[in-house]
Amino acid sequence: MKHYTVLKNECIDGLAIKKDGIYVDATLGYAGDSEEILRRIKRGMLFAFDKDLDAVTYSLDHLKKVGDRFVIFHSDYINMKEMLASKGIEKVDGILFDLGVSSVQIDEDRGFSFMRDEKLDMRMDQSQEFDAIKLLNSYSYDELRKIFFQYGEVSKANCIAKKIVDERLKEKIVGTQQLCDIIKMAVGAKEFYKSHPERQVFQAIRIEVNNELENLKKALEDALTLLNEHGRLVVVTFHSLEDKIVKQFMKKYSEVDPIVKGLPSIPYEYRPKLKIITKKAIKPSDEELRENSRSRSAKLRIAERI
Ligand SMILES: C[S@@+](CC[C@H](N)C(=O)[O-])C[C@H]1O[C@@H](n2cnc3c(N)ncnc32)[C@H](O)[C@@H]1O
Repeated sequence: MKHYTVLKNECIDGLAIKKDGIYVDATLGYAGDSEEILRRIKRGMLFAFDKDLDAVTYSLDHLKKVGDRFVIFHSDYINMKEMLASKGIEKVDGILFDLGVSSVQIDEDRGFSFMRDEKLDMRMDQSQEFDAIKLLNSYSYDELRKIFFQYGEVSKANCIAKKIVDERLKEKIVGTQQLCDIIKMAVGAKEFYKSHPERQVFQAIRIEVNNELENLKKALEDALTLLNEHGRLVVVTFHSLEDKIVKQFMKKYSEVDPIVKGLPSIPYEYRPKLKIITKKAIKPSDEELRENSRSRSAKLRIAERI
């Protein structure tokens, strides 16, 4: 099993780990980041989340070889606050989100890949009922069009949605290459090979199946309430929609609330809550890009709780 952790050194530096600190890895995956956090905390604690059971099972075993100051939750990170509270944790010193899918999820026939022929799936949480097959065979034309447009910025969202609705009347849509063929028919072979709209369509389906953007918005708000003063929020995103959410979130909380702007004294609750550490997002170095081309769209943003 081959796994890469994107922007690992930059994330770990960004967390500014204290030996006795409490840290959260919201997206444990195959524990590349968690392993390094665990090595650096001596009297502290690591709490890690993933909703993928395979990732949790692997990482539990793996991290046991590194130390014992950790707890793994097989859970969506939107439950972070309640799960931590169940362990008596109200405040933490750093929270890392390394969003998106892991290279293992892409490579291990989980129906995420438009490069191979697999059964469509795209669930990060294998116990979830709703998957890509259900989505493609039950969503209306309008619903499909909307998600392709909103979550994939697909320029021919209408044609592709229409073709899916037509084709599924003939045969249920169950395979990744079947879907690629439908997209090709919808946009024409020339356009397909020129602009590869399947990338964006697959991204949109994945976001919808896993409710990725709504979950992220809620989790960022929770993260803010969990961070101690000087606690770090470190987020790696892999596409512009995620990055926009993170950028706007950090901007919003690093400014004085507009309601009270201009008052001689700003009441405490309206003061900025975050200091942005990365004025511009950090991107993978040329060396990292050479080693792992999948990191090319990664952007890292870091902020500190005031
Ligand atoms: C890019 S990988 C993380 C890789 C990890 N940093 C490492 O070093 O191995 C993202 C992981 O986050 C998990 N994930 C994505 N969204 C999640 C959510 N809402 N709740 C919990 N886990 C989530 C995925 O299942 C996946 O394993």
